[in-house]
Amino acid sequence: MTLHYYSEQLKKTASALAQPGKGILAVDESTKTVGKRLASIGVENTEENRKAYRGMLFTTSGLGEYISGAILFEETLFQSHQDGEPMVKKLEKLGIVPGIKVDKGLRPLPGANDVETLCSGLDGLVERAADYYAQGARFAKWRAVLQITESGCPSKLSVKENAWGLARYARAVQESGLVPIIEPEILMDGSHDIKRTAAVQEEVIKEVYMACQTNGVLLEGTLLKPSMTVQGADCPAKSTPDEVAKITIQTMERSVPASVPGIVFLSGGLSEEAASVYLNLMNKTERKAKWNVSFSYGRALQHSCLKAWKGENLIEGQKALKARAQANSEASRGLYTPGSQPSSDEALFVAGYTY
Ligand code: 13P
Repeated sequence: MTLHYYSEQLKKTASALAQPGKGILAVDESTKTVGKRLASIGVENTEENRKAYRGMLFTTSGLGEYISGAILFEETLFQSHQDGEPMVKKLEKLGIVPGIKVDKGLRPLPGANDVETLCSGLDGLVERAADYYAQGARFAKWRAVLQITESGCPSKLSVKENAWGLARYARAVQESGLVPIIEPEILMDGSHDIKRTAAVQEEVIKEVYMACQTNGVLLEGTLLKPSMTVQGADCPAKSTPDEVAKITIQTMERSVPASVPGIVFLSGGLSEEAASVYLNLMNKTERKAKWNVSFSYGRALQHSCLKAWKGENLIEGQKALKARAQANSEASRGLYTPGSQPSSDEALFVAGYTY
């Protein structure tokens, strides 16, 4: 197995992204998904409006105190702010590392149950990643999705295929100098209990790291982005926040190598407040491994902000974003006081979510 040309840089970027007290802002919604968000505040899904919204996020002064990296959609990586300065420059000025979603979305997985998918985008990925690097990106994201069903999903086939895809992606982008964020999301859809989620998630994450071993992925130059270990959205037995925190840490300890510098959770449809409270409790829980435990939230960082912005209120939008970023930064140190920052309790879960 050849060594990575970029080894030292990959390790440095990964530790910068995983530095204590900071997390990642996920703003890589596809054009279709961001359209749904904009529609919820009555704003049309045009390139100008997407630019105005994301430009508002990336000029929030002081955001870099809480946010280490931002994941962009390809359009944004190559876009300039309304004032003419490239979006990448705006992020760099805040001390935020630009990242890029490189997967090409989910496709049905032939031979599996009809809810199961594979994540596409491996063809030409080394070359695409090199172009993104030249444009200023230093890390990447690839989201594989697994679902738990009463009929026995995820199947062995889906676990193997999605783990392999994540490892192939990780190796490919490392070849071009990008730190891979490895995201095996387990959807909240379903009525399974938290123990079943834990068992499935352990199996999935272990399989991911076995595939990384086969592909020679440099683990010190990666981050893991899992879902939290929660019960299905339709499960009648609701776990307490303490139970979620403890079982999530247990799942991570059983499956994530200590050489991974950081685990950055996705919010997956949790409300803004729940996402902060669970993260905070995880950081109060005794744990054996030293990975930094933080966030890479999309909906749980942007929900209140989008509502405050409403297409024109720059200052209000930025204030709301900064409040959630600060709250989650505190939660990543176990120092968050629930309710100390404005937030929303609105559940952000939607069945069969695509990004
Ligand atoms: P959510 O936090 O909204 O789940 O999004 C994070 C993400 O990047 C999903 O791929």
